[in-house]
Amino acid sequence: MQILVVYATRKGSTEEIALAIGKELEAGGHQVMVSHLKDVSSLEGYDAAVMGAPVYTGHIDGELRKFVGRNKNGLKTIPVAAFAVGLAPVNPKIGSSAALGEQLKGIVEPANLVAVKVFAGKLDPTTFVYDENHDFPYESTNRGFPGLGHN
Ligand SMILES: Cc1cc2nc3c(=O)[nH]c(=O)nc-3n(C[C@H](O)[C@H](O)[C@H](O)COP(=O)(O)O)c2cc1C
Repeated sequence: MQILVVYATRKGSTEEIALAIGKELEAGGHQVMVSHLKDVSSLEGYDAAVMGAPVYTGHIDGELRKFVGRNKNGLKTIPVAAFAVGLAPVNPKIGSSAALGEQLKGIVEPANLVAVKVFAGKLDPTTFVYDENHDFPYESTNRGFPGLGHN
Protein backbone atom coordinates (compact mmCIF):
# COMPACT_ATOMS: atom_id res chain seq x y z
CA MET A 1 0.00 0.00 0.00
CA GLN A 2 1.00 3.61 -0.58
CA ILE A 3 0.47 5.37 2.76
CA LEU A 4 0.65 9.09 3.48
CA VAL A 5 1.60 10.24 6.99
CA VAL A 6 1.01 13.96 7.52
CA TYR A 7 1.60 16.07 10.60
CA ALA A 8 1.54 19.59 11.99
CA THR A 9 4.11 20.52 14.62
CA ARG A 10 5.42 23.57 16.49
CA LYS A 11 8.30 22.09 18.49
CA GLY A 12 9.05 18.89 16.58
CA SER A 13 7.61 16.11 18.73
CA THR A 14 4.60 15.40 16.51
CA GLU A 15 6.99 15.16 13.56
CA GLU A 16 9.08 12.63 15.52
CA ILE A 17 5.98 10.52 16.17
CA ALA A 18 4.93 10.77 12.51
CA LEU A 19 8.40 9.58 11.43
CA ALA A 20 8.23 6.67 13.89
CA ILE A 21 4.80 5.67 12.52
CA GLY A 22 6.23 5.92 9.00
CA LYS A 23 9.11 3.59 9.92
CA GLU A 24 6.74 1.01 11.40
CA LEU A 25 4.57 1.09 8.29
CA GLU A 26 7.63 0.68 6.07
CA ALA A 27 8.76 -2.24 8.18
CA GLY A 28 5.32 -3.73 7.48
CA GLY A 29 6.09 -3.62 3.74
CA HIS A 30 4.28 -0.42 2.77
CA GLN A 31 5.48 2.52 0.69
CA VAL A 32 5.29 5.54 2.96
CA MET A 33 5.53 9.29 2.48
CA VAL A 34 5.88 11.40 5.66
CA SER A 35 5.22 15.13 5.12
CA HIS A 36 4.20 18.30 6.89
CA LEU A 37 0.53 18.67 6.06
CA LYS A 38 1.11 22.09 4.53
CA ASP A 39 3.31 20.41 1.90
CA VAL A 40 0.60 18.02 0.69
CA SER A 41 -1.78 19.29 -1.97
CA SER A 42 -3.55 16.04 -2.94
CA LEU A 43 -4.20 12.53 -1.66
CA GLU A 44 -4.20 11.11 -5.16
CA GLY A 45 -2.24 7.86 -5.42
CA TYR A 46 -2.49 7.03 -1.70
CA ASP A 47 -4.35 3.97 -0.42
CA ALA A 48 -4.45 5.11 3.24
CA ALA A 49 -3.51 8.12 5.36
CA VAL A 50 -2.38 8.90 8.89
CA MET A 51 -2.78 12.48 10.21
CA GLY A 52 -1.42 13.98 13.39
CA ALA A 53 -1.29 17.34 15.18
CA PRO A 54 -0.21 18.71 18.58
CA VAL A 55 -2.44 20.16 21.30
CA TYR A 56 -1.89 23.70 22.59
CA THR A 57 -4.03 25.33 25.28
CA GLY A 58 -6.70 22.69 24.92
CA HIS A 59 -6.96 22.87 21.15
CA ILE A 60 -5.66 20.55 18.46
CA ASP A 61 -3.57 22.62 16.04
CA GLY A 62 -5.92 24.34 13.56
CA GLU A 63 -3.75 23.29 10.61
CA LEU A 64 -5.29 19.83 10.89
CA ARG A 65 -8.82 21.16 10.38
CA LYS A 66 -7.62 23.18 7.37
CA PHE A 67 -5.98 20.07 5.90
CA VAL A 68 -9.19 18.07 6.38
CA GLY A 69 -11.18 20.88 4.72
CA ARG A 70 -8.84 20.96 1.72
CA ASN A 71 -8.91 17.18 1.28
CA LYS A 72 -12.45 16.31 2.35
CA ASN A 73 -13.31 14.25 -0.71
CA GLY A 74 -10.04 12.30 -0.81
CA LEU A 75 -10.26 11.50 2.89
CA LYS A 76 -13.67 9.87 2.41
CA THR A 77 -12.37 7.31 -0.06
CA ILE A 78 -9.39 5.81 1.84
CA PRO A 79 -8.95 4.51 5.40
CA VAL A 80 -7.67 7.25 7.70
CA ALA A 81 -6.06 7.10 11.15
CA ALA A 82 -5.71 10.27 13.22
CA PHE A 83 -3.62 11.14 16.25
CA ALA A 84 -3.17 14.10 18.58
CA VAL A 85 -0.07 14.76 20.67
CA GLY A 86 -0.20 16.38 24.08
CA LEU A 87 0.86 16.06 27.69
CA ALA A 88 -2.63 15.11 28.91
CA PRO A 89 -1.92 11.35 28.59
CA VAL A 90 0.93 11.68 31.11
CA ASN A 91 -0.53 14.47 33.23
CA PRO A 92 -4.34 14.48 33.63
CA LYS A 93 -4.10 17.88 35.38
CA ILE A 94 -3.38 19.33 31.93
CA GLY A 95 -6.52 17.88 30.39
CA SER A 96 -8.50 14.81 29.51
CA SER A 97 -7.13 12.43 26.89
CA ALA A 98 -10.65 11.17 26.26
CA ALA A 99 -11.86 14.72 25.56
CA LEU A 100 -8.95 15.26 23.17
CA GLY A 101 -9.91 12.04 21.38
CA GLU A 102 -13.45 13.39 20.97
CA GLN A 103 -12.15 16.76 19.77
CA LEU A 104 -9.96 14.94 17.24
CA LYS A 105 -12.88 12.85 15.97
CA GLY A 106 -14.91 16.05 15.47
CA ILE A 107 -12.12 17.66 13.43
CA VAL A 108 -11.47 14.69 11.14
CA GLU A 109 -15.12 13.64 11.01
CA PRO A 110 -15.57 13.90 7.20
CA ALA A 111 -12.83 11.25 6.80
CA ASN A 112 -13.27 7.49 6.62
CA LEU A 113 -11.84 7.17 10.12
CA VAL A 114 -10.52 3.76 11.21
CA ALA A 115 -8.44 4.71 14.28
CA VAL A 116 -7.99 7.61 16.73
CA LYS A 117 -5.20 7.92 19.28
CA VAL A 118 -3.84 10.54 21.69
CA PHE A 119 -0.08 10.12 22.17
CA ALA A 120 2.06 11.59 24.93
CA GLY A 121 4.19 14.45 23.65
CA LYS A 122 7.14 16.16 25.23
CA LEU A 123 8.07 19.57 26.56
CA ASP A 124 11.57 21.03 26.53
CA PRO A 125 12.20 22.43 30.03
CA THR A 126 14.84 24.82 28.67
CA THR A 127 12.19 26.78 26.78
CA PHE A 128 9.16 26.26 29.01
CA VAL A 129 8.42 26.44 32.70
CA TYR A 130 5.83 24.39 34.51
CA ASP A 131 3.68 26.38 36.89
CA GLU A 132 2.17 24.28 39.69
CA ASN A 133 -0.39 27.00 40.41
CA HIS A 134 -1.85 26.79 36.94
CA ASP A 135 -1.38 23.07 36.22
CA PHE A 136 0.02 24.06 32.89
CA PRO A 137 3.24 24.60 30.98
CA TYR A 138 3.93 28.23 30.19
CA GLU A 139 6.18 29.47 27.47
CA SER A 140 9.04 31.15 29.32
CA THR A 141 8.85 34.11 26.95
CA ASN A 142 5.17 34.55 27.82
CA ARG A 143 4.22 34.33 24.16
CA GLY A 144 1.73 31.53 24.83
CA PHE A 145 -0.06 33.37 27.60
CA PRO A 146 0.22 37.13 27.11
CA GLY A 147 -0.37 39.16 30.22
CA LEU A 148 -0.08 36.35 32.75
CA GLY A 149 3.17 37.69 34.14
CA HIS A 150 5.23 34.47 33.97
CA ASN A 151 8.77 34.63 32.76
C1 LIG B 1 2.07 26.65 25.77
C2 LIG B 1 1.75 25.19 25.74
C3 LIG B 1 0.43 24.77 25.88
C4 LIG B 1 0.12 23.39 25.88
N1 LIG B 1 -1.18 23.01 26.04
C5 LIG B 1 -1.48 21.67 26.12
C6 LIG B 1 -2.83 21.25 26.37
O1 LIG B 1 -3.76 22.02 26.47
N2 LIG B 1 -3.07 19.91 26.44
C7 LIG B 1 -2.07 18.99 26.29
O2 LIG B 1 -2.36 17.79 26.40
N3 LIG B 1 -0.79 19.37 26.04
C8 LIG B 1 -0.47 20.68 25.95
N4 LIG B 1 0.81 21.09 25.72
C9 LIG B 1 1.86 20.09 25.47
C10 LIG B 1 2.14 19.91 23.96
O3 LIG B 1 1.03 19.38 23.32
C11 LIG B 1 3.34 18.94 23.81
O4 LIG B 1 4.50 19.62 24.25
C12 LIG B 1 3.50 18.44 22.38
O5 LIG B 1 4.46 17.41 22.39
C13 LIG B 1 3.90 19.55 21.43
O6 LIG B 1 3.96 19.03 20.12
P1 LIG B 1 4.99 19.61 19.04
O7 LIG B 1 6.40 19.42 19.60
O8 LIG B 1 4.77 18.77 17.81
O9 LIG B 1 4.66 21.05 18.81
C14 LIG B 1 1.15 22.44 25.70
C15 LIG B 1 2.47 22.88 25.56
C16 LIG B 1 2.77 24.23 25.58
C17 LIG B 1 4.19 24.65 25.42
